[in-house]
Amino acid sequence: MSDTDDGIDLTGPPQEMYKFLRDHMPVMAVEHEMMTGTSVTLHADVTTVLQNADIFSSLGAAEIGQVRPLIPLEIDPPEHSKYRKLLDPLCAPRRVALLESSTRALVNDLIDAVIDDGACNFHTSVAEPLPSQVFLTMFGLPVERTPEFIELKDGIIRPPVENFDEATEFRNMTGQKIYAVLQEAIEEKKANPTDDFISQFLDAEVDGHRLSENDVLDIGYLFFLAGLDTVTASLDCMLAYLAQNPTEQKRLVDSPDDIPAAMEELLRWESPVAGVIRVATQDTELSGCPIQAGDKVSVNLGSANTDERFWTDADKVDFDREINKHIAFGGGVHRCLGSHLARMELRVGLEEWHKRVPSYELKPGITPEYTMGLRSVDNLELVWRT
Ligand code: HEM
Repeated sequence: MSDTDDGIDLTGPPQEMYKFLRDHMPVMAVEHEMMTGTSVTLHADVTTVLQNADIFSSLGAAEIGQVRPLIPLEIDPPEHSKYRKLLDPLCAPRRVALLESSTRALVNDLIDAVIDDGACNFHTSVAEPLPSQVFLTMFGLPVERTPEFIELKDGIIRPPVENFDEATEFRNMTGQKIYAVLQEAIEEKKANPTDDFISQFLDAEVDGHRLSENDVLDIGYLFFLAGLDTVTASLDCMLAYLAQNPTEQKRLVDSPDDIPAAMEELLRWESPVAGVIRVATQDTELSGCPIQAGDKVSVNLGSANTDERFWTDADKVDFDREINKHIAFGGGVHRCLGSHLARMELRVGLEEWHKRVPSYELKPGITPEYTMGLRSVDNLELVWRT
């Protein structure tokens, strides 16, 4: 148990902590290495921030080793819409559907490697490699490079050092390596264009606007970091939940058509990307509390997704929930560009896993340990009968 001075248990279920914050300090000053500013937890405040990009900018929201603003995440309107117009069609359901059969094959290869063992660490065996392999396939690169990509991604998200300054330095160094990998891929695709994403980015044009090579680098960099750990964390959260709730697990095995609705409810409940950051561009207020121009605002998506002021039966995980307007993919103009891809990866992952491993549980003695922010479960040890 680890309590803050305010009596918040940081090691318990996050939904309990979110409720405590909503009830006692819905707008709260925060000061730690990662962020000094204000945190908001009410659904109403969270959506106000996300829907007003003119007052709450996303420029400077992410510090992940980049040397220029990430496109389109750190671009404010109106310029932002120019990029989304160009990128949205490339990430639309019709395009994502073309990746479904290769994704299904990748999931099955990962399951083949562990199925006869009757046990695996789901995080390292399935949830972590899958999105890297999908990314490599999308970008027309060999899936054999998966370990290299996981190491690069971890170098940004979990730098293997102790203190904050060293972490920043490690991230910047890893960022340079990611740019180099992407630059090399751009050169290759310029010489031999195929139907991969980099070739499409280089070729895309909207209203006479084409992407520069730096644009393609800055988009590729964001895709790399936005598309890997988010899917890993979501699969981890979902399998950890299902391993501990055998009735719901059996329901998905018996009725795979229920998987999409179950996925949405678990995205709401778990909110694997727990929050995002914005920077106020002018003096304003949230729930009557002053916010100064230049203040960072931490927007708690997980809390908004479980706020009883907005949701009926907010703390009940209900796969039959009829209306589920969760904001696990964010909201407003920066709502996740990869949501169709993410949903396809999650659905195919859950379908194939439950087809092939119809009954599983946590290894005895294991309590899932969730990381903060992006809620991965590195110790997700599962067992099943062979
Ligand atoms: C379940 C998995 C995922 C979750 C939960 C998720 C969540 C999010 C969230 C919360 C945002 C908003 C960030 C903000 O407002 O600051 C976002 C934006 C974004 N995501 Fe995802 N994401 C997922 C998967 C992906 C994938 C697979 C890709 C692409 C490969 C992707 C690409 C992006 C991009 C490019 C943006 C920025 C959009 C913009 O600024 O217009 N995401 N995502």
